[in-house]
Amino acid sequence: MLQNKRITVSAPGKLMLLGEHAVVYGHPCLVTAVDQRMRATVELLDNLNLELEAEDVKVMGYKKTLSQLGVGDIPKGAKFVEIALKNINDKYPLKSGIKITTKSEFSSQFGFGSSSASTVCVVKAMSEILNLNLSNKEIFDLSFKTVLDIQGKGSGFDVAAAVYGGTLYFVTGGEIIKPLNINSLPLLVGYSGVKADTVTLINKVKASFVGREKRLEEIYSGIAMLVNDAKIAFLSNDLTKVGELMDKNQAYLRELGVSIDKLDCMIEAAIKAGAYGAKLSGAGGGDCMIALSPEEKKQAVINGINSVGETINVRTNAEGVRVEL
Ligand code: PMV
Repeated sequence: MLQNKRITVSAPGKLMLLGEHAVVYGHPCLVTAVDQRMRATVELLDNLNLELEAEDVKVMGYKKTLSQLGVGDIPKGAKFVEIALKNINDKYPLKSGIKITTKSEFSSQFGFGSSSASTVCVVKAMSEILNLNLSNKEIFDLSFKTVLDIQGKGSGFDVAAAVYGGTLYFVTGGEIIKPLNINSLPLLVGYSGVKADTVTLINKVKASFVGREKRLEEIYSGIAMLVNDAKIAFLSNDLTKVGELMDKNQAYLRELGVSIDKLDCMIEAAIKAGAYGAKLSGAGGGDCMIALSPEEKKQAVINGINSVGETINVRTNAEGVRVEL
């Protein structure tokens, strides 16, 4: 008989602050981890199966043998967990079955990175339960590989936020992952109610700039410059400057064609109500917008955003992946 071994870990969701899309192509971005977390409990089983319960994404009673990991049709809600486990199993062959139960504090509709956070949870939990002692960079690399195996595209910024937490200066693929030593940000988040698909939007940008590649490069370079300026502004707590750079970033995102009317209206309402700046956050096409607000204007900005969409209460700079007691 196996020992009854069980562990629970959690990882934070994320919000892109500045630099989306450009970061897919070798440029930097700024991302913050949010205090809404994904949890995964992993148990060793006395058989050779994967058993998965992920009620939030409607996966219940999912079961397959370890030798079949990654084979056949995998339900959407099971993909990241299953491929993460497959990547672990390819590298560190498993000698027993695994039961994984995931539970999220946030809706997978928000675009807070639930897939990446659950991937990171599985890799970290497996590292703990098998005593692999994986470093954060190893957890990042295995998790990012999992995301690329499934999506084919992506910078890995969301994986980095889930692993390291805090607010990060991040370059494509984890080439640079640098924590910014800053306080929690006065950030307000508005949800558009529209679900967006990241890979579809990345492809859409590329397709709509065919024949205008030079302009696309200029936009990405412009975004990279403002990310670097924003990093300095954050570190000197110059939120007025950060706000200006957010507005500039949003203008570029509009030119990329990834904003939608609802996000534009929420952003406009936030700025009208006194925000330092506002922009969409993530791939665009829906999901969320963010606004940086002076404390005294906070309620007015919330009211402005709520007149168009819905604010979500989150705190930035959350802790990265951790073992729960
Ligand atoms: O849609 P989200 O929240 O996963 O953000 C995507 C951001 C992109 O830069 C478009 C893609 C990426 O992986 O960096």
